[in-house]
Amino acid sequence: MSERVGVLFVCLGNICRSPMAHGLFAHLVAARGLAGRFEIDSAGTAAYHAGELPDPRTLAVLGERGIALDHRARGVADEDFARFHWLIAMDHANLRALRGRCPPEHRGKLHLALEPIGGGEVSDPYYGSAQDFERNFAELERALDAWIDQML
Ligand code: 4NP
Repeated sequence: MSERVGVLFVCLGNICRSPMAHGLFAHLVAARGLAGRFEIDSAGTAAYHAGELPDPRTLAVLGERGIALDHRARGVADEDFARFHWLIAMDHANLRALRGRCPPEHRGKLHLALEPIGGGEVSDPYYGSAQDFERNFAELERALDAWIDQML
C-alpha cells in the first residue's frame, strides 16, 4: 500500500481556524471513502494555546454539521516540515512564519488554504463573532474540497 498523504493545517493559535480545517477535511475525505489515504493534523505558528481544546465557536460550527474533532492545540514542530507533504496556512502571516522556519527542500509544501478558489485569507476570527466563524467555514468548505483532488 502506498504512503498516506500527510496534510497539516496551520493557523496562529491552533484553536480556531486550523482545527476547523482539520475536522472539516477529515469529514470530507471520509465522505469520499478516502479516510485511509490521508494523515491529517493541525498546528499553530504560536504555541501559547498548546494543550487546549479547540475554541467553543469552532466546535459549534463543526458540531452543527455533525463533525466531531478530538484535538489538542500544539505548536508547529521542526519535524512537521519533513513529516507532512502539504502544510496549508490560513493567512499570509502564518505562511510567512512557516517560510521562515522551513528547510529549503520542503518550501514547495507550503500553501495558502484558499489557493484553489483564487486565493485570499481565512481571516483570524478570534476577536470576531459567530458570523466570522461561519464565513471561515464556508470558505474552507469550498477550498478543501478542491484541495482533495490536487493532493491525490
Ligand atoms: P487561530 O485564532 O489562529 O485561528 O487559532 C487565534 C487564536 C488565538 C489567538 C489569535 C488567533 N490569540 O491571540 O490568542
